[in-house]
Amino acid sequence: MPGKTVLIVDENQATRSYLANILRERLFDILEAGSGKEALISAWRDQPDLILFDPSFSDIPDLEFIHKLRQNARTEKTPLIAFASDPSPAHREACLKAGVNEYIVKASGAILQLHQALERIFGGETPASAGSEAGQSPRGKGLLFTFLSAKGGTGTSSLCANLAMTIQEQHPDARVVVVDLVLPIGSIAQIIGYEGEQNLLTAASLPARELSGDYFIKNLPQPELWKFHLLAGCYDPHQAGNLRVERIGPIVDLLRASFDFVILDLGRSLSRISLPLIQQADLIPLIVATDLSTVRLTKTVWDYLSEQGIDVQNVYGILNRAVGLEGLTKAEAEQIIGFPIKTTLPYMGSNFTLANNLNQPIIAKYPKDTASIVFKTTAEEMVKLARQLRARSGA
Ligand SMILES: Nc1ncnc2c1ncn2[C@@H]1O[C@H](COP(=O)(O)OP(=O)(O)OP(=O)(O)O)[C@@H](O)[C@H]1O
Ligand SMILES: [Mg+2]
Repeated sequence: MPGKTVLIVDENQATRSYLANILRERLFDILEAGSGKEALISAWRDQPDLILFDPSFSDIPDLEFIHKLRQNARTEKTPLIAFASDPSPAHREACLKAGVNEYIVKASGAILQLHQALERIFGGETPASAGSEAGQSPRGKGLLFTFLSAKGGTGTSSLCANLAMTIQEQHPDARVVVVDLVLPIGSIAQIIGYEGEQNLLTAASLPARELSGDYFIKNLPQPELWKFHLLAGCYDPHQAGNLRVERIGPIVDLLRASFDFVILDLGRSLSRISLPLIQQADLIPLIVATDLSTVRLTKTVWDYLSEQGIDVQNVYGILNRAVGLEGLTKAEAEQIIGFPIKTTLPYMGSNFTLANNLNQPIIAKYPKDTASIVFKTTAEEMVKLARQLRARSGA
């Protein structure tokens, strides 16, 4: 929760660090105190947005600690979560009566309960989503598209950039953001000709309180020809090595709260970072090339994703004839892979590479080419399908 501070109070330093790490991942700023008295001083001086504490101190009775917080104007309304070593129902009752909002016993399942308690306390406070198209996101969350492929060079980044641009053109009032998550080196910035400093590494390095949906709306580049906002990828392996990967999930969450479409280029990575994003996605455009080895690898990827609980209806297969006209047909590819190919993009010879080299979108450079027509119908269909799936999921 960017901009919110939690005071963690526990006499055990290891417990404090453990909780601090969990909360930092959710973008909270952290204060720590190792005793009851130290905690009271910090609570009144720093006025955190939440106090998470183990009500068992050696220097002050636990109920007195809670009473003191509740009787002081600076902390009378501060949410208090007891994260308690004492599991007894009597202690729990006493703490709740004294004014604690939530009482979680340190036992298995405690962290899940902590996340749920945070949701109850801060849940409604998502960053501004002003400017959303009416009816666009029933959940108030932007639609998430995760572009991926089983093999390099299949055209994932080119298709991601061009389809995102087409979606933005078809929905001029919507906010579209493309995030290049291909590590260690992204390529969308190169395709669209962005040479600025703003990228995933700079965003992930910001202090938690500066990260917000507004930050991205104001600071991300929006190249004129491409229209969408871009969160560019890392531009060298050294930079990628310094990336705070635990920030990626929260950054995507922030973007979804402020943009109508969040379009990720995951390239050919299936990792601990990309899998949760794929699992959350409304639509998973999976780019397939026509050669047998790519098609076989795509089957392996799809088998894995389906084992991970991905529903076939969320997969949007795109057959891209990036390598030329020769190769498997749509029907042959579908039979091997086991999911339907929704659209086939024609081979454009050197024109595609030329457009990329000139940093121009295909539909702008070759508006009459069949590929442009396919981009337009595909973009329309993807949005329609994602909205239907979102409505059906009841989310
Ligand atoms: N339909 C097509 N017709 C002709 N050329 C294409 C087509 N699709 C992609 N290309 C070309 O293929 C090349 C690779 O595309 P791109 O970089 O988008 O692939 P990628 O899957 O993102 O690769 P990487 O593994 O490097 O991330 C580019 O030069 C692009 O211009
Ligand atoms: Mg790529």
